[in-house]
Amino acid sequence: MADRIRATLPGVEVCIGCHEEAVTDSPEEEKIRGYDGGGEEIPWQRLYRVPRHVFFSHRRHVHVARVECTTCHGDMGSLTRPPPRPLKKIAMKACLACHRDRGAPIDCVSCHR
Ligand code: HEC
Ligand code: HEC
Ligand code: HEC
Ligand code: HEC
Repeated sequence: MADRIRATLPGVEVCIGCHEEAVTDSPEEEKIRGYDGGGEEIPWQRLYRVPRHVFFSHRRHVHVARVECTTCHGDMGSLTRPPPRPLKKIAMKACLACHRDRGAPIDCVSCHR
């Protein structure tokens, strides 16, 4: 599906472009070369995930509704290391509050399928 836009995570080949040689003495950075050398992808830890019964599409929110990433994810761009937990919790209340403000659907089956 050509128009399916997904927020994905960068592959290790993106990282190795800058991290082929050490730029810090961080053991976290050393891991990148380990994964790349072993032909493995980085085993990213998921922080944001909706339960299986909830439907969510980035395309509708980012492309169509023009909602900023920070509205739902907090100011990830200002971080210099991975947060241990989401900066903003995904909660039905927050989804509904914005849907009410913006006149988006609030009937149960629009999100629960
Ligand atoms: C455009 C270049 C560039 C790319 C691409 C890049 N990095 Fe970095 N990274 C840097 C630089 C420069 C530093 C050192 C920053 C500093 O010391 O302030 C760094 C530091 C780091 C560190 C050490 C931070 C710490 O203090 O522990 C880690 C871990 C890291 N990068 C992981 C990644 C990962 C994972 C990717 C791919 C998803 C990636 N980097 C992609 C340039 C890059
Ligand atoms: C309207 C709220 C909303 C907006 C705006 C939004 N996201 Fe998300 N994002 C979510 C939700 C909800 C999930 C969990 C989706 C799932 O479980 O399928 C998620 C998941 C993700 C993930 C997977 C995270 C993980 O922990 O594995 C990434 C990466 C991501 N979003 C990046 C972005 C980027 C980049 C933008 C801006 C271009 C953005 N998102 C805008 C709500 C949002
Ligand atoms: C900051 C505002 C905002 C937040 C937060 C938000 N949404 Fe939305 N959402 C919208 C808007 C605006 C639309 C309508 C986009 C369009 O016109 O297609 C929409 C559309 C949708 C649709 C499509 C509905 C349909 O049937 O047409 C679904 C499903 C949805 N959102 C789920 C979610 C979920 C789940 C969350 C919480 C994790 C969430 N949204 C959080 C603004 C938001
Ligand atoms: C705009 C999207 C959206 C709409 C509309 C919506 N929900 Fe949800 N709902 C969510 C999300 C996201 C979650 C998971 C996060 C959470 O538990 O807060 C959720 C979770 C739930 C849960 C599980 C709570 C739990 O504790 O596990 C129930 C039950 C639920 N919704 C019922 C409803 C009912 C009934 C309606 C209609 C009156 C409704 N939802 C409308 C997004 C929505």
